[in-house]
Amino acid sequence: MMPDPFNNPPSRLQTRSVKWDYLRDVFGVDSLIPAWVADMDFPAPASVQEALTTRVAHGIYGYSRCPQELKSLIVQWYQRYHAVTLLPEWLIYCPFGVVSAMGFCLQALLNKDQAVVVMPPVYPPLFNQPTQMGYSVLRSPLRHENNEWSMDLAHLAQLCQTTPVAMVSLCSPHNPVGRVWRREELLELAALQKKYGFLVFSDEIHSDFLMPGFTHSPYFSLGEEAALRSIVFHAPNKTFNLAGCASSYIIIPDPQLRRKVAQTIEPYGFHDGNVLSQQALASAYRDGHDWLAELKEVLFQNYTDLRAALKDSCYRPSATEGTYLSWIDCSALADSPEVIRKRLLTEAQVGLDDGVKFGPGGAGYQRLNFACAPQTLREITTRMLKLG
Ligand SMILES: Cc1ncc(COP(=O)(O)O)c(C=O)c1O
Repeated sequence: MMPDPFNNPPSRLQTRSVKWDYLRDVFGVDSLIPAWVADMDFPAPASVQEALTTRVAHGIYGYSRCPQELKSLIVQWYQRYHAVTLLPEWLIYCPFGVVSAMGFCLQALLNKDQAVVVMPPVYPPLFNQPTQMGYSVLRSPLRHENNEWSMDLAHLAQLCQTTPVAMVSLCSPHNPVGRVWRREELLELAALQKKYGFLVFSDEIHSDFLMPGFTHSPYFSLGEEAALRSIVFHAPNKTFNLAGCASSYIIIPDPQLRRKVAQTIEPYGFHDGNVLSQQALASAYRDGHDWLAELKEVLFQNYTDLRAALKDSCYRPSATEGTYLSWIDCSALADSPEVIRKRLLTEAQVGLDDGVKFGPGGAGYQRLNFACAPQTLREITTRMLKLG
């Protein structure tokens, strides 16, 4: 088969890939197809590879500043994909990923005795990190009715009435349930924010993956008041499969909050960070548009094929409106999450993410990453269908 970045990507075996190379560590077995962790099986755009190759060939990797155009490339990115304007001075470039950026923002903006609210089932670091850092973590679980997921804002309001909530953690689009929050839903959250005064940390790392017809509203675009109480996190890590290059950026419209975050990061001495990460982000945002358009078509086709394959089976996927993750109710396979997990690992030999780790509401679910070659996805679904 001819090499083709999306249909016939290179093998990732023996590249120290977290997704592919440590199956025994992660799943306790060696032989399965991994479809876990939000990491794609596709190579970054050729333009990014070329920019990195050129930079590597220079051979000198001393302290380097970020490309000057970086902030304007990010501003243009938001204009092009979300039709919103952000000011370059709102941006803090981070030579580390979104999770680290969130940790610094917690440290900068919240006192240890303050409470944060998370909305499980959700990406585990969103509740593990503040817990590990000593904050009090309250849960406002998503509602699940007619196989649709929504924020339970009445419950959030109740929490705010009984406990002073300093920050609400939003995952937008939501990993793992795949919701793209509608502007009206976010405006309702912003109305609660106005009433109770909490900050919103909006993790928007999946916001470049929208299924056709869906629109992402960056939290800072909901109006001035919401913007001034929000911290938005984004990165090229998911969008261009650059997680190993670890860079991100934080959007903070309020100058005082921004100053506090910058002052918290400064003493750690990151400077402008890794010369290759800077290069990767700039070239992806400058020249990666055609690649991204093609990727989105592949992901949409994969998602369509996945739904079709599971249609008359025992698996019930939630609607993925954004992300490249499918959140699948597998409770028909067994009563206990432990047995579901075991059957998928040993009988079907596929390695998905167990729903339990996403917190309350996750038991009985598995998260499937469909950002892989179509034939890999076909093999995964064929194996799953052997179970029912
Ligand atoms: C919602 C969400 N936020 C953050 C991350 C991690 O981002 P980073 O590698 O930039 O820390 C992930 C990765 O799966 C994610 O799904």
